Amino acid sequence: MGSFAKLAKRCVETEAPVMVKIQELLRGATDVMSLAQGVVYWQPPETALNKVKEVVWEPATSKYGADDGLPELREALLEKLRRENKLTKSSVMVTAGANQAFVNLVLTLCDAGDSVVMFAPYYFNAFMSFQMTGVTDILVGASNPKTLHPDVDWLEKTLKENNPIPKLVTVVNPGNPSGAFIPKPMLQRISDLCRNAGAWLVVDNTYEYFMYDGMEHYCLEDDHIVNLFSFSKAYGMMGWRVGYIAYPSEADGFHAQLLKVQDNIPICASIIGQRLALYSLEAGPEWIRERVQDLVINRKLLVEAMSPLGEDAVKGGEGAIYLWAKLPDNCKDDFEVVRWLATKHGVAVIPGSASGGPGYIRVSFGGLKEEGTRLAAERLRKGLQELVTDGMVQ
Ligand SMILES: Cc1ncc(COP(=O)(O)O)c(C=O)c1O
Repeated sequence: MGSFAKLAKRCVETEAPVMVKIQELLRGATDVMSLAQGVVYWQPPETALNKVKEVVWEPATSKYGADDGLPELREALLEKLRRENKLTKSSVMVTAGANQAFVNLVLTLCDAGDSVVMFAPYYFNAFMSFQMTGVTDILVGASNPKTLHPDVDWLEKTLKENNPIPKLVTVVNPGNPSGAFIPKPMLQRISDLCRNAGAWLVVDNTYEYFMYDGMEHYCLEDDHIVNLFSFSKAYGMMGWRVGYIAYPSEADGFHAQLLKVQDNIPICASIIGQRLALYSLEAGPEWIRERVQDLVINRKLLVEAMSPLGEDAVKGGEGAIYLWAKLPDNCKDDFEVVRWLATKHGVAVIPGSASGGPGYIRVSFGGLKEEGTRLAAERLRKGLQELVTDGMVQ
């Protein structure tokens, strides 16, 4: 039904969420295996789930909690940030996931009309968060096609020459959708450039534990840096919606402004979710690392499955749960390729254009166990082989 009342332009002009588009595409299709959504196949630690069963009856579980998060969870997180991330000067706010954390930050740090910086291929939800809050001057830098690392020389020039000076620069490390890991000296240079320009640097560390081949994750800390974290993938807690922000304690007014936003969106993250997060922390990083190591075989299976695309086509996967692959030059419409792979070959992936990378696909290796991945990889290989040799034959 029509209405004379108008929808917000900010929202109408925001991209549609790619996962919703994929779900629409898959509606009616039967037997499609998903390498699309960024999820892990495991559930939270059993001990934590059992403990949480006991707190559902506690009256406090059904009440509002402190906006910043349960004091005992915040304390445990501050300790974790100190011990694992070497962040000693940060304060913490618990949010309903890292996506809500990012929206909190955009609302706290940016005004409509501000310029912000991202690098393609970028995390689509971060792009949408800018768009829907009126921060539409999104300057998108390129990444090195070989390493998928951000073009820092371009950033240097942009932070000097763009008028207005960008207010905020954001990166995901390791990356979604690239799976690339930004080396410390490079992130340090990005941070120095931001500091000198008076810009915020927001680093999304959702995949901090998803590191392979002996690489180690790190965080940087400074008065202009904000770090984001998530319980979703690490502890298999996607549906429980818990993440957190580590922000500079010394930045004047930061907490007071952040609190206004938090109080108007979730008030507090769900109490039961926070409890599960607290108990999951007791299982610790080793619990996560054991599971992450199992993903190495999935990654290998999918890299092999994409070999029909050619030697240099598949990148990323140094960290996170993603591979980023270039489609043949004649496949400009990556969404059509995704549709064809799903309907003809029974395997779903994400089109690169959703992340500012048309002509590519993102393949996730976290959502299926080895047997499932093996099956999905066979389908993907068959589909890509056909794509390369005969095109999208119906
Ligand atoms: C880089 C990145 N940030 C944030 C999120 C969302 O995490 P959460 O479930 O904590 O909101 C995701 C999920 O895919 C992600 O890949």
